[in-house]
Amino acid sequence: MDKFFITGPKRLKGKIWVSGSKNAALPIIAATILSPGNHLIHGVPDLMDVKTMGRLLEYMGAEFSYENSTVNIDAGCLNRFEAPYELVRTMRASVLVLGPLLARHGRARVSLPGGCAIGARPINLHLSGLEKMGARITLHGGYVHASAKRLKGTDIYFDTPTVTGTENLMMAATLAEGITRLENAACEPEIRDLAGALTSMGALINGAGEGVIEIEGVRDLTPMVHKVIADRIEAATFLVAAGITGGDVTIRNARSEDLEAVIIKLRETGISISEDENGIRATGPERPLACDLRTLPYPGFPTDMQAQFMALMSVAAGTSVIRETIFENRFMHVAELRRMGADITVEGSTATVKGVKNLKGAPVMATDLRASASIVLAALAAEGETVIDRIYHIDRGYERIEAKLRSVGADIKRI
Ligand code: EPU
Repeated sequence: MDKFFITGPKRLKGKIWVSGSKNAALPIIAATILSPGNHLIHGVPDLMDVKTMGRLLEYMGAEFSYENSTVNIDAGCLNRFEAPYELVRTMRASVLVLGPLLARHGRARVSLPGGCAIGARPINLHLSGLEKMGARITLHGGYVHASAKRLKGTDIYFDTPTVTGTENLMMAATLAEGITRLENAACEPEIRDLAGALTSMGALINGAGEGVIEIEGVRDLTPMVHKVIADRIEAATFLVAAGITGGDVTIRNARSEDLEAVIIKLRETGISISEDENGIRATGPERPLACDLRTLPYPGFPTDMQAQFMALMSVAAGTSVIRETIFENRFMHVAELRRMGADITVEGSTATVKGVKNLKGAPVMATDLRASASIVLAALAAEGETVIDRIYHIDRGYERIEAKLRSVGADIKRI
């Protein structure tokens, strides 16, 4: 198994290019099920999760190829309408094929994802929404069995905004009969990007990225040519990397409009952020300042950046209080950061971080994608060598992270 060896502290300096967004690319790839013909998707990051989504489509009978950040898919010839347990358990986002399969083929058999490291993560809202649209849904043998003649547009209210739930139902509604209104829908930029891709296929969608999305179903869709937006979480992770090392890094290809909450919080910690035609530039202070935060659905502070901010707060001057409100168990990084000398206590969904002057390198373990990113950040600032085991987690969501960090002066090796 690969490991990272990181020796710090090193001030990062230079420019980093941000890849396409993982969480936008995955639903957009699933959306190709909605229409036969050759889809072309550009800006797709070279990640394990993208490969898994490709394998899933191939398993169902689609043609899938990936080269130079471009995915080519023809899902016109599907002969299996199933997402098997072996694939779903390695990537929960596999559940995104449910809506498109049901809308276009009238049937789907999708393994229930089960819990994961960061929480129980049920999909009840995906299922009840599809049922409201007329699907027959049963659960047995660990699988969701769904069928429908043609889905029917209706009004659906999400008890809690769900990103993939909104995406699943938005895709399903594009081919449904009549109008579907999704209320209290998730507003993440990835939803807007998916809506853009669907619109380019001929779907009629209004309000994506706002709380209420209205979709008027059409009979057929056509293949898309689409470019995926830049990954806001990767960009934000590199902004923290600059800040935590007292460095000076410009992030190219990033979209500051997707990062407002993160940028405001970074500024509170004393990191200077500016933007010009070259990208977003972060200049770190000698030592960051403590700051409190609470994760919330977009446009609130993203849960996908909570772990990385906690690494930053670990070395800040003062005490920070971090509340995680989206997932019930997203503090797996705390034990690893503590091994590096961080002073963090957790009570329920609240972590209190008393900043220490220096972290120290240690052997640690990656436990989930964003937790791994937080450990990498801590290691960049820590004194001495940190060895991070199980980095396959980080390969799921960060494209060539070690090459990118090395290009701005980090001492990081994959062995
Ligand atoms: N929820 C329900 N019922 C549902 C669906 C969700 O109760 O049917 C709850 C969840 O348990 C959670 C909350 O709603 O408490 C929000 O979860 P959401 O459904 O929005 O999460 P998701 O769609 O499974 C996506 C991202 C995650 C990101 C979350 C929150 C993708 C592929 N995944 O997950 O990304 O953390 O939204 O922003 O888009 C990551 O990239 O590291 C990652 C975990």
